[in-house]
Amino acid sequence: MTAEARPSGAPRFHALKVADVRKETDEATSICFEVPADLANEYRFIQGQYLTLKAQINGEELRRPYSVCSGLDEGELRVAVKQLPGGRFSGYVNGEVAPGDVIDVMTPMGNFHVALEPSAARHYVGIAGGSGITPFMSIIKTVLAREPGAEFTLFYGNRGFDTIMFREALADLKDVYLGRLRVFHVLSDDIPELPLFGGLLDEAKIRDLSTHLIDVGSIDHFFICGPGPMMEAAKTVLKDLGVDDARVKLEVFGTPAPHAGALRSSEPQVIDGRSSDVTIVLNGNRTKISVPYEGVPVLDAALDRKLDLPFACKGGVCCTCKAKLVEGEVRMDINYGLEPDEIEAGYILTCQSHPLTETLVVDYDDR
Ligand SMILES: Cc1cc2nc3c(=O)[nH]c(=O)nc-3n(C[C@H](O)[C@H](O)[C@H](O)COP(=O)(O)OP(=O)(O)OC[C@H]3O[C@@H](n4cnc5c(N)ncnc54)[C@H](O)[C@@H]3O)c2cc1C
Ligand code: FES
Repeated sequence: MTAEARPSGAPRFHALKVADVRKETDEATSICFEVPADLANEYRFIQGQYLTLKAQINGEELRRPYSVCSGLDEGELRVAVKQLPGGRFSGYVNGEVAPGDVIDVMTPMGNFHVALEPSAARHYVGIAGGSGITPFMSIIKTVLAREPGAEFTLFYGNRGFDTIMFREALADLKDVYLGRLRVFHVLSDDIPELPLFGGLLDEAKIRDLSTHLIDVGSIDHFFICGPGPMMEAAKTVLKDLGVDDARVKLEVFGTPAPHAGALRSSEPQVIDGRSSDVTIVLNGNRTKISVPYEGVPVLDAALDRKLDLPFACKGGVCCTCKAKLVEGEVRMDINYGLEPDEIEAGYILTCQSHPLTETLVVDYDDR
């Protein structure tokens, strides 16, 4: 599985057999999928991308996105899932899934990466919290293997030593890439020897780490993935330190902190119960549906018509429902996932989109 020549078009599910299940910590499990030769092309991934898994759990069909933790050169497709208290899908993966089981897995998606440049000697910085480490495993393994001059510095926050996912794998990678990979664990509950590495990855801590351990101005790309408050703190610090947004990549796993701001892209409008004629383009087919200006978003209206459209969170986070708005205008309730250049290019989150014009053309094949 490599980054070259990936198929285009809407992502789709295939039933994949679980080849291996591994306990990563007391509260996290990784599962590796067997990819048949005829599907190998469909499951080529880019470092940092995710897979959406679908399963019937207690009679309910659930879909959840999970980041690939394998590097491009490992020849496996693996995700790691951290058990959340009361979490339905994470509980199923951590408690029930066994080798030989079959799970519906969507083809890879996501933009949490920068294009590889083997001749560049770039310095990357990752700021990760908890299960937010998973895409970093894929990114670190890939860039250090494929870009021989690259360096990676990782700040990784956890509660305690025993809850650190991929602790040994990271230590092994440090040995393989001596002097090119630096990993700084920050623990909130266990007390480390140096106060710099104790506490939460909050604004003060991230500022301390960034000013003492890296030369912010010389870093080519920052990657941030973890709990909402940690992500907001990291964004604020990097902005304060003069880092341009173009150098910062974000991957949101859950709903960010309530104070995140600037998420609602427009206010609801009341437009007399009217509907818009919406053309959905999917796998080269065009289907016309009617979508009310208010209430039901484009995605749900199309799912009601039994169109097999891609989606996962339905919360404006994962971007699985992303499509290109070829004609017309929409307003989105919230947007945690699309970047400004994607919005500029006409992409929308269909789970959050409501028509503003009499006709829309929404293309799921152009992603
Ligand atoms: C692009 C993307 C990639 C992801 N990659 C990974 C990954 O590699 N590993 C991983 O473990 N998770 C990952 N997630 C999160 C994952 O998709 C699920 O949200 C998570 O496993 C919880 O699902 P659940 O069904 O167990 O919880 P639910 O039954 O849906 O919720 C249970 C409780 O947990 C809360 N909750 C739900 N999601 C989160 C969250 N992310 N953080 C904190 N609280 C939450 C809910 O509010 C609720 O109280 C990713 C999410 C996205 C959008
Ligand atoms: S389904 Fe996740 S953003 Fe729409």
